[in-house]
Amino acid sequence: MTAAAEPLLQATALRKSYGRTPALDGADLTVRAGEVVAVMGPSGSGKSTLLHCLAGIVQADSGRVCYRGRDLTAMSDAERSALRRTDFGFVFQFGQLVPELTCLENVAMPARLAGTRRRAAEAQAAEWLARLEVGEIAGKRPGEVSGGQGQRVAVARALVGSPRVVFADEPTGALDSLNGERVMRLLTDAAHDTGAAVVLVTHEPRVAAYSDREIVVRDGKSRDLEQVS
Ligand SMILES: Nc1ncnc2c1ncn2[C@@H]1O[C@H](COP(=O)(O)OP(=O)(O)OP(=O)(O)O)[C@@H](O)[C@H]1O
Ligand SMILES: [Mg+2]
Repeated sequence: MTAAAEPLLQATALRKSYGRTPALDGADLTVRAGEVVAVMGPSGSGKSTLLHCLAGIVQADSGRVCYRGRDLTAMSDAERSALRRTDFGFVFQFGQLVPELTCLENVAMPARLAGTRRRAAEAQAAEWLARLEVGEIAGKRPGEVSGGQGQRVAVARALVGSPRVVFADEPTGALDSLNGERVMRLLTDAAHDTGAAVVLVTHEPRVAAYSDREIVVRDGKSRDLEQVS
């Protein structure tokens, strides 16, 4: 098999409970390089837990997550956090920007944490802000910009380090539909240009329409949409 045909990220038989509450009950998911996968399903079905396990933020009770042939579940915490910094980008529902930093500094932060010098990191950040059509708010703090602008800043921050996988949990959840679609288009276009894969959790079919493939999670189990009757 060639490297390109191999899955980039593969979760097998993931189980996770919080106390007596089962969150994942044998979930599988495969993500190939450059593909946009939408994870749909009712509230409480385990979508966020699946995303967090895939990204190595949450440890499953059992099952495996392989990233480029390496078992994430067998890595040390330090190895996993290093991997998250170098290979993964994150966008959350409410942006989660650092309020004390300017938008430019927020976007530059992942590159700074990865060891890039301030000037170079901020130059990259400025490019990404311009690409996400919010170059003019670079010097403002997150509290001084609109929800849609803040979310574009969050997307810029997720993409700045050229991650191989972007994890997005309800990235448009706080936006009106017009802004939501714009942010999705910018995110998927940028991902396609850079070759990043995107794992996107969403409730909204309009948002899922930007994906190449849809997965449905129900009661902690995942299925390809085509297999769901
Ligand atoms: N940190 C936690 N502590 C305890 N229970 C949790 C925790 N996180 C999730 N759960 C439970 O695990 C189950 C799956 O939660 P999860 O957040 O993965 O669902 P979700 O599909 O993302 O839902 P939503 O669409 O509402 O975001 C739920 O029953 C939830 O209550
Ligand atoms: Mg969730």
